[in-house]
Amino acid sequence: MYIVLLGAPGAGKGTQASRMAEQIGLAHVASGDLFREALSNRTELGLLAKSYMDRGALVPDEVTIRMIFERVALPDCAKGVILDGFPRTIAQAEALDRTLAGQGKNIDLVLYIKVSEDELLSRLGGRWLCRRCQAPYHIKSAPPKVAGVCDVCGGELYQRTDDSMETARNRLVVYFDQTAPLIEYYQTKGKLVEVDGEQEIEAVTRELVDVVRARQVQK
Ligand code: AP5
Ligand code: MG
Ligand code: ZN
Repeated sequence: MYIVLLGAPGAGKGTQASRMAEQIGLAHVASGDLFREALSNRTELGLLAKSYMDRGALVPDEVTIRMIFERVALPDCAKGVILDGFPRTIAQAEALDRTLAGQGKNIDLVLYIKVSEDELLSRLGGRWLCRRCQAPYHIKSAPPKVAGVCDVCGGELYQRTDDSMETARNRLVVYFDQTAPLIEYYQTKGKLVEVDGEQEIEAVTRELVDVVRARQVQK
């Protein structure tokens, strides 16, 4: 199964993708996490991505598409993937459709997590992440058991530099300009299901997993 999680910065894509991956048994592939991992390894890709991420701009399509396709070709993705943060432009979506079609596959489901703009900014402002396993926390809505320490792996928590108010606002502008058109793109193809992302984290997961299970039965 190929599932795309669509939603603005802070909508809960990472939070939900990791919970869904565990419950459904698919791989979780997050473009932003791959860029941040490349940066922490000081690779050429990581340093290139940083120059865009620091501004809240998108990394060029060509580089992003190549990185995702290399990742999705690894054996843990053989049964399918939950894509988090990709595609993010119409060109990326078309490249994904073409590549999957070439392998006799297609996207099964696009889950759009809808959240209002005010809520997005407060989520990004209060977010902390694990340096080691990328698990997301929030000072108010999802605090760790011990301050500054990851519940899952004991790693150190940090705040993303692109979550500063100024960069976060720019990421939202870029989202509405370049990524939001994907809602219509997938709606037209009959693949989009919208979920209210302002419910509690567990309730959102339940709804998303239910939609996936219903689709698995149909297949
Ligand atoms: P990326 O890392 O993908 O960031 P993003 O899309 O901006 O999304 P976020 O990770 O900020 O939000 P999220 O939806 O995952 O929310 P989360 O679950 O953490 O991309 C970063 C950068 O990389 C881009 O700006 C770009 O430069 C580059 N990039 C990445 N992909 C690219 C692509 N395809 N093409 C080009 N460039 C690309 O949740 C947020 C917070 O809210 C957390 O604190 C969480 O605990 C809390 N929360 C979650 N759900 C709830 C809830 N239901 N109720 C209350 N709080 C909640
Ligand atoms: Mg994320
Ligand atoms: Zn961790």
